[in-house]
Amino acid sequence: MDAISVIRTKRDRGELTPGQIDWVIDAYTRGEVAHEQMSSLAMAIFLNGMNRAEIARWTAAMIASGERMDFSSLPRPTADKHSTGGVGDKITLPLAPLVAACGAAVPQLSGRGLGHTGGTLDKLEAIPGWRALLSNDEMLAVLRDVGSVICAAGDGLAPADKKLYALRDVTGTVESIPLIASSIMSKKIAEGTGSLVLDVKVGSGAFMKNLDDARELAATMVELGTDHGVDTRALLTDMSTPLGRTAGNALEVRESVEVLAGGGPQDVVELTLALAREMLDAAGLKDADPAKALADGSAMDHWRRMISAQGGDPDAPLPVAREQHTVTAAATGTLTTLDAYAVGLAAWRLGAGRARKEDPVQAGAGIELHAKPGDPVTAGQPLLTLHTDTPEKFPYALEALDGGVAIAPADTAFTARPVVLERIV
Ligand code: URA
Repeated sequence: MDAISVIRTKRDRGELTPGQIDWVIDAYTRGEVAHEQMSSLAMAIFLNGMNRAEIARWTAAMIASGERMDFSSLPRPTADKHSTGGVGDKITLPLAPLVAACGAAVPQLSGRGLGHTGGTLDKLEAIPGWRALLSNDEMLAVLRDVGSVICAAGDGLAPADKKLYALRDVTGTVESIPLIASSIMSKKIAEGTGSLVLDVKVGSGAFMKNLDDARELAATMVELGTDHGVDTRALLTDMSTPLGRTAGNALEVRESVEVLAGGGPQDVVELTLALAREMLDAAGLKDADPAKALADGSAMDHWRRMISAQGGDPDAPLPVAREQHTVTAAATGTLTTLDAYAVGLAAWRLGAGRARKEDPVQAGAGIELHAKPGDPVTAGQPLLTLHTDTPEKFPYALEALDGGVAIAPADTAFTARPVVLERIV
C-alpha cells in the first residue's frame, strides 16, 4: 500500500477500499504518511466526498488509532452532547450539571475555540483555579462523585483525528461533511458514552450555512453512532444570530450561572431544556424533569460541586476586561439582523478567541448584546458593548460588525426563527 495510490483513487472520484482507509489512517498516525500527502487526500475528499461505507470505515479507523474509554462501572447511564460549534454557544455549561442533577452521568469531553466559534474549555478557564486537564482516573472520580465532568480529551483518544483536524484547519478542508462527521463521531464513540445528542448548528455562525447540509451532516452522524451501539439523536438549531446575550469567555460563564439560578435569556433556557430532555430520554430516564431541576436549585448545586471538584472557585469574581466600547442603534425601529458570524468574528478580534492553537485567550474579552432580532430599538440606545484588554482592537472588531446589524422601520413584519429547527433520529 502506498499514499500516492490512495490519493489517486480519491482524486479520480473512486471509492476507497477498507484496506486503503485502514492503512492510510494508521500510517498517518505513525508518521509514515507525510502531512503533505494527507493534506492532498483531505482535499480530494473535500472535493469528491466519501460514501456512507467509506465514512463508516474512516471513522472506525480513527477510533482504532487510540484508546477507548469505558464508563460501564458507573451506576448511572451515560449521556453526552456535542455541538458543531456556534457563537455564544455556552449550552454545555448549564446542561452538563442539569442532566447530572436529573440522574445521568455526563462525561463531557470538550474543546477549545478556533476561529470565530468559542470553546467550552476556554469559557470555563475564566473561572479562577478551574482545571481542564484531568487524568482518566480523575475524570472517572468526578463523574462518580458529582455526576458530570467537563474536561479536555486526553492525547490517547482518537489521535488520528487530533493530527488530521490540525492539518485540515490549515489546509482549507474543515467544512466537509464526511470529514466533520467522522472527526466528531470518532471522538464521541471512543469516549464510550452510552447515548449522544448532537446539536447541529445551522446559519451564518455555523459550519453548515443551510438546512440541507445540516440535515445530511446530522443524518450521517446519527447513522455512525447507531451503528456503533450509541443511541444517537440530533437537533438542528438556529445559529443565524448568537445564542443568548453574550459571546466571550467570562461573559458566557456569567450568563450560564444566571440560567442555573433560574433566570437567563429565553433562547438559552429553551435550548438547554430541549437538549436535556433529549439526553435524558436517550439515557432511559424518561420521567426526569429538567425544568424542575433548574427551578429548585439542584442543577446549580451540581454546577458548584463540578467546578470545585476541578479546582475552581464558583464564588470567585469573574475576570472583567479593562476597556469597554458601546455601539448604539443608528435608527429607531425593529432590530431585524444581528448576524452570528459578524458578532463571533468581532468577539474573536477583541481577544476572546485565538488564531493558532497555542495562542492565549483573554478571559474578559467579548460582546454583550443589549437587543436581539425582533426587539424594538430607539436611535442612540446601546446595542452592543465590546469588551477587551487591548483597546487598539476596537476598530478591527467594529469593522467585523459592518453589515451585521440591520434595523427596519417599526411596522416591518418580523418572524423570529425558532431555536430548534428539526429533530433527526
Ligand atoms: N468539530 C470537530 O471535532 N471536528 C470537525 O471536523 C469539526 C468540528
